[in-house]
Amino acid sequence: MARKIHTLGGYIHEYQRSILDPEAFWTQVADTFYWQKKWDKIVEWDFETPNINWFVNAKLNITENIFERFLYTKRNKPAIIWEPNDPNEPSITLTYWELYEKTCQFANALKANGVEKGDRVIIYMPMVPEAAIAMLACARIGAIHSVVFAGFSATSLADRINDCSAKMVLTSDGNFRGSKTIPVKKVVDEALENSSSIEKVIVLERTLTPVTMKPGRDIWWHEAIDGISSDNVAETMDSEDMLFILYTSGSTGKPKGVVHTCGGYMIYTYYTFKNVFQYSDDDIYWCTADIGWITGHSYIVYGPLLDGATTLMFEGIPTHPHPGRFWEIVDKYKVNQFYTAPTAIRALEAYGIDPVLPYKLDSLKVLGTVGEPINEEAWHWYHDHIGKGKCPIVDTWWQTETGSILISPLAGITPTKPAYATLPLPGVQPIIVDNDGKELKGNSVEGNLCIKFPWPSMLRTLYGDHDRCRQTYFSSFKGLYFTGDGVKRDEDGYYRILGRVDDVINVSGHRMGTAEVENAINEHPKVIESAVVGYPHPIKGQGIYAFAICDMSDRSEANLKNEIRVTVTNIIGPIAKPDLIQIVPGLPKTRSGKIMRRILRKIASGDSDNFGDTSTLLDPDVVDKIIADTDSAS
Ligand code: PRX
Repeated sequence: MARKIHTLGGYIHEYQRSILDPEAFWTQVADTFYWQKKWDKIVEWDFETPNINWFVNAKLNITENIFERFLYTKRNKPAIIWEPNDPNEPSITLTYWELYEKTCQFANALKANGVEKGDRVIIYMPMVPEAAIAMLACARIGAIHSVVFAGFSATSLADRINDCSAKMVLTSDGNFRGSKTIPVKKVVDEALENSSSIEKVIVLERTLTPVTMKPGRDIWWHEAIDGISSDNVAETMDSEDMLFILYTSGSTGKPKGVVHTCGGYMIYTYYTFKNVFQYSDDDIYWCTADIGWITGHSYIVYGPLLDGATTLMFEGIPTHPHPGRFWEIVDKYKVNQFYTAPTAIRALEAYGIDPVLPYKLDSLKVLGTVGEPINEEAWHWYHDHIGKGKCPIVDTWWQTETGSILISPLAGITPTKPAYATLPLPGVQPIIVDNDGKELKGNSVEGNLCIKFPWPSMLRTLYGDHDRCRQTYFSSFKGLYFTGDGVKRDEDGYYRILGRVDDVINVSGHRMGTAEVENAINEHPKVIESAVVGYPHPIKGQGIYAFAICDMSDRSEANLKNEIRVTVTNIIGPIAKPDLIQIVPGLPKTRSGKIMRRILRKIASGDSDNFGDTSTLLDPDVVDKIIADTDSAS
């Protein structure tokens, strides 16, 4: 298959070509796909509006490029290998042919239950093959899927259902997660008390957790497909029709529905998967993400399947039933490419190397990381103990909004450097600007990371709020897409991501808006006001530190903190629970009432000096009071 880069010289050549003649470059990549109708023009764009169209007027269906395209060459090749939460339960392998049949059958079941092209379908499911089948079946019939991470609460789920007026929810009776069973259908029932658009719920039987099935609304998955044919002709989609919506956090309270479209997303997830991981035809590739996040969309489902790869899906968690589980799975399936998050590496590193020792890990060729900056110590542990010093680590930088990896080494082809995402992929034109938007040229510079030219898998809009899309990403620096990340370009021209420069924190690789967590904390009746910041956490990368002004008249401090955590869990989910809460007498605010988070961030990271200019503070004494009491944070 075309366009795999094999050498450093090849990378340099392809990169140059992608910048100098994007039309020719993308034509060559896209020509290897099956289009029902080819494009009139490769790209039309304007970052002011913003208005971005790739493969203009082309017609396609992404699933035809996974299934029909491979049916002669890959029919019996494993597409998905599924490893269950419980190592004693049998695993499942679906070949390309089997996955095709199941996708088409479920696509027909969706249609039979009233789903039409353009309808929104929520997927709130465990990591089982049916979750991938659900995504592909939606894509097959042109329904827009929106996967919601199954750890989100009923309130968060309802918000997302309502935001996109979804017609259907796909879920399960329960989810296995380590030693726990989570009753997810119950969460759906609760969410649906506050949503009116849902007409049907299809429920997969997974844990045999008792559930209440609402007549007329709820159907079992096995009944929905019973007797349903697997003959299905793929819907014709315009290149710019929506493929999916994925909600992510921003610096304001309300989650944003990032919209990705069919043609461009298909091309760039494929291209980046192939080149970053250097996948070869007989390899077994494993990404440990959850399909509730963009990594699961692009690098468990779409990217690998578009490349005809074998992708492993794991239902469980890294430490169940023992902290060597990841390595056991690597040996069991002879995994060649392994892609995970720095937080998982640090969590496993904390167990020492004993859990690693029983495993050979000799099948591994490539290691990857994603989601947050990886510290050098974790990088070396991963490199030495898992990769045995012989596997390149691809530190892949990207975002929900970018759809695919933008800055990363190509495994074994371009150089790596601990803690650096290194170089942009072909088609990606990064630019660093200072806070006034002035370009910082040359090497050894640090500033805001922007991108100056479109790439095929970039977001097109935020669902139902195009102006918010413009404001969030395209208005900070004129004519540029602003990532929200700080970056350094070192003396060799390599990029190192320094973390968010906005009010977004990254906890265990999960993106969280501080405002979103504050809104949840403020729902507790005894909380008067709160401010949330991130602080360095040895495993999670960043932990959540909440400063809260509370009415303490009838609660002990410990009880109140527990109640606040329960409130946040109920409103968002356990991932947003503050690690530390400090009850404070006031918050550092400017005269105009804005909380000076810069000061709270310093305090939370244990730094009580050099607060810079505090002359605009309404009550400078409050800072000293907060510092004097940081030991009470718990
Ligand atoms: O701050 C960057 C960080 O994660 C943010 C994007 O989060 P999300 O949309 O949830 O997507 C995560 C998976 C792609 C970015 O703005 N980030 C992601 N990858 C890296 C990273 N920070 C440093 N190094 C990375 N490799």
